[in-house]
Amino acid sequence: MAGIRLKTAKGRRPSSQRWLRRQLNDPYVAAARKQGYRSRAAFKLSELDDRFGFLRKDAHVLDLGAAPGGWSQVAAERVGPSGRVVAADLNPLDPIAGVTVLTFDALAPEAPAALRAAMGGQADVVLSDMAAPSTGHRATDHLRIVALVEAAAAIAGDVLAPGGSFVAKVFQGGTEAKLLAELKRRFASVRHAKPKASRSESAEIYVIATGFRSAPGAV
Ligand SMILES: C[S@@+](CC[C@H](N)C(=O)[O-])C[C@H]1O[C@@H](n2cnc3c(N)ncnc32)[C@H](O)[C@@H]1O
Repeated sequence: MAGIRLKTAKGRRPSSQRWLRRQLNDPYVAAARKQGYRSRAAFKLSELDDRFGFLRKDAHVLDLGAAPGGWSQVAAERVGPSGRVVAADLNPLDPIAGVTVLTFDALAPEAPAALRAAMGGQADVVLSDMAAPSTGHRATDHLRIVALVEAAAAIAGDVLAPGGSFVAKVFQGGTEAKLLAELKRRFASVRHAKPKASRSESAEIYVIATGFRSAPGAV
């Protein structure tokens, strides 16, 4: 087998051997370590922004499902010192320079109000890389994924300024039909993309909605 081999494979379950071998041989993991990013996911956001250009200098960004913090690091670099990044996750985040961190559950009813308060005003960009750990039960996993994307879209509808952008992880065939219709109604442009840094065997893709229209009614 090419690449790094495991010297200590004995005693590890085959699934954890597979995970470790993949991590050790993944160029994005190596690049993240070298460039000081907390996750290889940082490269997914860089690629999406290189292509769609939503992280403008001075922008106010809300990053949902931000832990361990790779996306927030990229967002903070790109918006610069006069921009603003609020990073929120179920799990506590270690501090990131130039980023406000918040522990919260996107599915809690009080989430939008708490986020509005933390932002101190409207956001230009809402990012969501939220994902729940797999239960191994496909139908349950699917429902949980849909609930997280819907929660992120509702929060975006609540906090985005006119002209703002919403970028979120969705899975399989893309955004669910009902949510896609809502996004098309509320945003001037809605596209899907799978960055190269997203593993080909992963079902994840991203929806990129730009040009928010602040019409009355929730997303
Ligand atoms: C793939 S990770 C995000 C990686 C991150 N973008 C980065 O660059 O480091 C998904 C995150 O979603 C978070 N998450 C899952 N459900 C959530 C919820 N209901 N509310 C807030 N965060 C949630 C998880 O705790 C996890 O940290």
